[in-house]
Amino acid sequence: MPTVAKELAEKVQSVLTGYDNDKGMLVSILQDIQAEYNYLPREALEQVSERLCTPLSQVYSVATFFKALSLVPRGRHLINVCLGTACHVRGAVRVLETMERDLDIKSGETTPDLKFTLETVNCVGACALGPVVIVDGEYYGQMKTDKVKDVLANYT
Ligand code: FES
Repeated sequence: MPTVAKELAEKVQSVLTGYDNDKGMLVSILQDIQAEYNYLPREALEQVSERLCTPLSQVYSVATFFKALSLVPRGRHLINVCLGTACHVRGAVRVLETMERDLDIKSGETTPDLKFTLETVNCVGACALGPVVIVDGEYYGQMKTDKVKDVLANYT
């Protein structure tokens, strides 16, 4: 088994062992694997399915149900641009377009260097601060297109 695959298998095994191979803990198991790799590699899902004696289709349906879980590699930093009404009327779309241009990706995509994943949300309850951008849980209010570069520069 190649080293990377072996490391993955060992890591998944240790997560499973931590939960006593309890299929009732499937969501937590997937969250822990996601925390390690920023997404859920197919091999990991196969291993989870096998060890928990749970059909792979069921593991996939849980993995696709939760927005926080991803089947494709995600960036180290998650950017959410709020496109709720209050942010929208204050120019959130222009902020999003600037982000897309600077990162050279579209909303929903991840940069090839796996640094950023760009997504949109609909109202995060901070309308007075709009337009709002959230990076790794940190809120940036009154966002403008000319602030985008500075915000992105905070992340390595
Ligand atoms: S619409 Fe953006 S925070 Fe409410």
